[in-house]
Formats: sequence, C-alpha cells, structure tokens
Amino acid sequence: MASDPYKLLFVCLGNICRSPSAEGIMNHLIAANQLQDQIICDSAGTASYHVGSPPDRRMTAAAAKRQINLTGQARQFDRSDFEAFDLILAMDQENYANILRLDSSGQYRHKVKLMCDFCQNYSDREVPDPYYGGEAGFNYVIELLLDACNGLLSQVRQGALD
Ligand code: 4NP
Repeated sequence: MASDPYKLLFVCLGNICRSPSAEGIMNHLIAANQLQDQIICDSAGTASYHVGSPPDRRMTAAAAKRQINLTGQARQFDRSDFEAFDLILAMDQENYANILRLDSSGQYRHKVKLMCDFCQNYSDREVPDPYYGGEAGFNYVIELLLDACNGLLSQVRQGALD
C-alpha cells in the first residue's frame, strides 16, 4: 500500500516573495521527477499583512526566467500547520523564531528547520528578504532556493527526514 505523501511547508514573513518561490521551485522539481503523488508543498507567512495577495510580481518575473511558475494566495502560518505538515522550512532566523514561539511546549521543534540547511553549493545561512531591494535580490533568491530545494528533495527521497 502506498504511504501518505510527505508534506512540506515553506514559511517566510509575508508569503509573497520567498516562500511562494520555494513552493514553486519545489513543485517544478517534483513534477520533473514525477513525484507528485509522494510530496506535497504549501507556503505561509508569519505575518498577516499580505493575506489573500498573489506572489509579488517582481518575484514572479525572476522565477519565470527559470521557467518556474508562482501560484497561490498569501496566508498566515497557523498552529494547526504543526500537525498538518511533516517538515516546516523557515527562510530566515526571524521566521524560525516566530514559528517556534507558537510551539510553547516544544513538541514540534523537530519539524522546523532553516531552508539554507539544505543548500549544497551556497554557504548562506538565510534566504535574504528581497522586498525592499532591486531586481538582483529577487534573482538571487531564486538561485539560492534552487540550490536548497535540490538538496531538500534529495534528502526527502532518501528518507533522511522521516
Ligand atoms: P517575503 O517578503 O517574506 O519573502 O514574502 C516580504 C514581503 C513583504 C514584506 C516584507 C518581506 N513587508 O514588509 O510587507
């Protein structure tokens, strides 16, 4: 019998730039590897400012250059996500701290990791917030996330995160 799909949640601040990009890139890799039945992705923001908004158009343009399609509408991270997902990937240390603040007992701490922990080529420890910067920052987020998503996919496929 097939096992349940592995569920990934990508989290940033606004859920309009970094985490929808991580979701779009991961879905692109999942489709390329025909793993749609085995891995499911979603994204959320720790803040509520942009709830209901589509991905930022500057981010969408940077992703499109790599044939990555960004979809969805921003939503805020919710405590119920701790149970609903197998792994929660924070884009930076602030996102990480804000997620863990909602887990006062620490029972879900093992499910929350920094996205850059999965980088194989880049040495960055955080995915930088591109929102107040220029085009280069958005392009950089895509390149960094491609590296992290490739590393993450290989660990999920190996069962290293079960
Ligand atoms: P994200 O980027 O967290 O990658 O979606 C941001 C989006 C909005 C804001 C900051 C970062 N903001 O300040 O509104």
